[in-house]
Amino acid sequence: MKQIHSNINRSDDQFNQKVESFAELMNVYHGRMNSIMRREKDLSVIRHLSRGKLDARHRIELLIDEQTPFLELSPLAAFGQYDNQFPSAGIITGIGKIQGKTCMIIANDATVKGGTYISETVKKHLRGQEIALQNHLPCVYLVDSGGIFLPEQARIFPDHDGFGRIFYNQSLMSAAGIPQISIVMGSCTAGGAYVPAMSDETIIVKNQGTIFIGGPPLVKAATGEEVTAEELGGAFVHTGISGVADHLAENEIDAIRICRNIFELIPQNDPQQFEKHPIREPAFDAKELYGLAPIDLRKQVDVYEIIARIVDGSNFEEFKRDYGTTLITGYSRILGFPVGIIANNGFLTSESSLKGAHFIEICNFRKIPLLFLQNISGFIVGKKYEHEGIARNGAKLIHAVATAVVPKITVIIGGSFGAGNYAMSGRAYNPNFLFMWPNAKIGVMGGQQAQQVLNSIKGNSADQNSDLITSFEQESSAYYSSSRLWDDGIIDPADTRSVVGLAISIASNKKTGAPKTGIYRM
Ligand code: COA
Repeated sequence: MKQIHSNINRSDDQFNQKVESFAELMNVYHGRMNSIMRREKDLSVIRHLSRGKLDARHRIELLIDEQTPFLELSPLAAFGQYDNQFPSAGIITGIGKIQGKTCMIIANDATVKGGTYISETVKKHLRGQEIALQNHLPCVYLVDSGGIFLPEQARIFPDHDGFGRIFYNQSLMSAAGIPQISIVMGSCTAGGAYVPAMSDETIIVKNQGTIFIGGPPLVKAATGEEVTAEELGGAFVHTGISGVADHLAENEIDAIRICRNIFELIPQNDPQQFEKHPIREPAFDAKELYGLAPIDLRKQVDVYEIIARIVDGSNFEEFKRDYGTTLITGYSRILGFPVGIIANNGFLTSESSLKGAHFIEICNFRKIPLLFLQNISGFIVGKKYEHEGIARNGAKLIHAVATAVVPKITVIIGGSFGAGNYAMSGRAYNPNFLFMWPNAKIGVMGGQQAQQVLNSIKGNSADQNSDLITSFEQESSAYYSSSRLWDDGIIDPADTRSVVGLAISIASNKKTGAPKTGIYRM
């Protein structure tokens, strides 16, 4: 493979100005991440620890194999909403290894309103299960939750993707042969009781875990019966009388030990063996991505420079280099895994759409995972392009993306606008993972454009609705997106290579199916 040639001059003023601007973005990013990760001074955390309980992230750290990575998903869920009273939406989800087996871990954070569920908590839990299903990952639930956050019940309880979907998914996962283990480390109330009750095996911590369909106050209100939580559904009740739980643990550490022992005999899934090569570091410093990342989306960045700082040895074998040049396609490797890269270098045109569809077909047949680097303002517009059939050609790319059977990883490195979002494997196209850089923006169009569109519909010539522009601006931010689970997390650009490599390795846990497409309209 050919090494990408870099034209970056580190002493160039413009480049250094961009590095400085990006440093400000990274300060904001680290500040926000710290506000949710470093909560040791919060009263609820102090109270939780004083009860001899472990922090949710610490529980995960002890559960996974030592010195192995944990890919935490959507830590900024619910950020900027509910007066920031739900850090990480009160649930930690992510992927790590237990006894060498890659698995999904879903852990309630009882220091956040008793581990109760708001809409984003449900979304995050369901997303964890979706990833487990898509990649055939065994699942561990670390349960410590008061169920639905009652003031929000109307947004959580009744709908298709509401709280009940969690247990529906557990049934489907079980039917698909995905092992599920629960460790009950606190409360599992009402619907929440079904998480351990529907798992293959359940461990419950003595004098700490409780499982019941209705807690003591509800029982008293319904029947007048007075009963303590421990008598109603404590560890001795469920391991000795009801049989709802299977293993009695002395404490949390013991529960984690039992879970790890169970994993010893959980069979390894038959993985997709991608042809791996030895890992080679890129020839250029990943930190230079700070000077390259698109901040001003009106200026196109040279995406070759970005690829050069992500892939092994900065090597890239380009496909159709001189055709449809606004979309760059080619083969490379990340952490030794083969990867087909599809990256924007301008508007999507008919040619670039056809080129993208062709490249995806090849990767599908050769079983090469796809990496989409999104920085797209949309499809090109205008009479000439409509007459050429841009809608028909764009449809081919969208069809190829939707029906691709190889793992798809999407990273939004700049803009993600209009149908460009669809064609470049946006959230609706089921990429195995979708991450954003802190500078990224997402929306149907920019605020100014929306204003112009509305003006022309209403017949106003130059009416400026600053509220509309401001709301478009706010709603397009990466933080707005991550808070609502439109992505799997905001990542440091310098970590892109390790995150994508980890994502491909996780996706390789499941065998890739045979290519299958529908009708491509020619
Ligand atoms: N809905 C709304 N708020 C809830 C809640 C619920 N289901 N469960 C807990 N909270 C809130 C509490 O009001 C408290 O809020 P605050 O910090 O603003 O005062 C916070 O979460 C922590 O609750 P607290 O009871 O102080 O914590 P705890 O660790 O001692 O106990 C629970 C946690 C979950 C065991 C306990 O709160 C409980 O039993 N909750 C009710 C569970 C229930 O019946 N759920 C049924 C709904 S499906």
